[in-house]
Amino acid sequence: MEINISNNINKIHEIQTEAISIGIFSDEDLINSSEITRKIDSDTIINLIKNDFQANIGQIIVLYNINNILAKRIILVGLGKKTKFSVDNYIRAEETLVKTCISHNISEYCSALIMRLDTNICKKTAIRNAVISIKNATYKYTETISEKENKKIRCFTIVTNEKDQEKIKNGADEGNYIANGISLSRKLADLPSNICTPSHIAKTAKELADEFDSISVNIMDYEQVYKLGMRAFISVAKGSKEPLKFIEIMYKSNKKNNKDPIVIIGKGITFDSGGISLKPSNSMHEMKYDMCGASTVIGLFKVIPQLKIDRDIIGLIPACENMPSGNSNKPGDVVSSMSGKTIEIINTDAEGRLILCDALTYAKKFNPDLVIDIATLTGACVIALGNVYTGLFSNNDEIAKKIIRAGKSSKDPVWRMPVDISYLDLLKSNFADLSNTGGASAGAITAACFLSEFAETYKWAHLDIAGTAWKKNNKGSTGRPIPLLVNFLIDINNGN
Ligand code: BES
Ligand code: MN
Ligand code: ZN
Repeated sequence: MEINISNNINKIHEIQTEAISIGIFSDEDLINSSEITRKIDSDTIINLIKNDFQANIGQIIVLYNINNILAKRIILVGLGKKTKFSVDNYIRAEETLVKTCISHNISEYCSALIMRLDTNICKKTAIRNAVISIKNATYKYTETISEKENKKIRCFTIVTNEKDQEKIKNGADEGNYIANGISLSRKLADLPSNICTPSHIAKTAKELADEFDSISVNIMDYEQVYKLGMRAFISVAKGSKEPLKFIEIMYKSNKKNNKDPIVIIGKGITFDSGGISLKPSNSMHEMKYDMCGASTVIGLFKVIPQLKIDRDIIGLIPACENMPSGNSNKPGDVVSSMSGKTIEIINTDAEGRLILCDALTYAKKFNPDLVIDIATLTGACVIALGNVYTGLFSNNDEIAKKIIRAGKSSKDPVWRMPVDISYLDLLKSNFADLSNTGGASAGAITAACFLSEFAETYKWAHLDIAGTAWKKNNKGSTGRPIPLLVNFLIDINNGN
């Protein structure tokens, strides 16, 4: 979808387009609310007000063939009471509008809704978030569907005035970059595991390196990770015929700064059957989403170079399948990890922490200032927080605060849970340094505590996105927590 800015608000009735949309407050005089409504003949307007349109929030009406107006259609969007109108309402109105355009088979439209925001509101942020929401609302999975729907928005024009034009252009560009990263992440996540294999994720990472000069990618195969001693990662991968990949993505900021890099790790289990501790079959198909940590990293690295973040950032993705076979991990097996710590595998379905612990150890190589891992790690996190909040765990209060703040500002919220050493007792093993499961209670916390044992030498945060990365009942991936992480990186960029 192409996004344009027009500064022609004063001549809005002269814009040639399939549809032009304006916002109307329920407590204003409809006729005088815009240059457009002044042109509509009074009979039409009176009928509208009496019968069909009160400009309540979410109300929408499409008018055709209005004299003196060059646009084919006028779409009036109700915004509710003027004093109650907020940025959130504005964004929802843009979302309703784009959905209406799609259902009317409109391929190109103009929106002047932004003009109804109060002058003291930051229009740049508002349009940025609106563009993200609009593009999210138009996302459609088509990869493996033979009859492609041709209802598609080709072009969207924001109508504003000369004064705001520049700000709005910047906000729209930023929103567009972020939205494209979210779409890439959602597409990868929604792909089935027979297509989205570890090799497919590696190929997608390489495409980022082709697209951006500031990004380079290194893919490690079995032999290389074996040499590094990643036995915990290998133990999960070896049950599958699909070859493992360890993906490294390096973003080099073009400004010289001597700050240590940020490392972002994503769990890349392209299918989690549970292994020998096989999962029940009813919702096993959803475990194609067990690579949403990885898809978040990939999506994020599409955004980072375009926002020109002034920090070196490294993405790490351990990617493999968790399958039952004659070569799988067996309950009771003991494996070593790259850190040297040994692990007793009580449950082969607790595989995420086994691949992440080796990535956390590998991260030390970059002398990181901060390491964030993102993982669909535990069903227990879904029980605790449902699909609203992502679980946040951290060994550093300052980082946790910043992540919580970024979650609020991006409407992609997190809730902090404890990483207390008292829980480590639950991970004691008689046969290894650590057990990979901690029993029935506090499952999201014991998983985080397990990881924390491999993240002792740097500032670390862990995001458990098991409840937030996709919607149940085949409703698809959400692209979370990309909005959160983008805001977190922008805040850091701005020195906050
Ligand atoms: N990928 C799952 C976690 C998961 C489950 C995410 C359901 C989303 C929905 C993870 O690998 C897993 O199976 N975790 C186990 C851990 C347990 C065996 C300690 C779980 O949560 O049941
Ligand atoms: Mn599992
Ligand atoms: Zn898993």
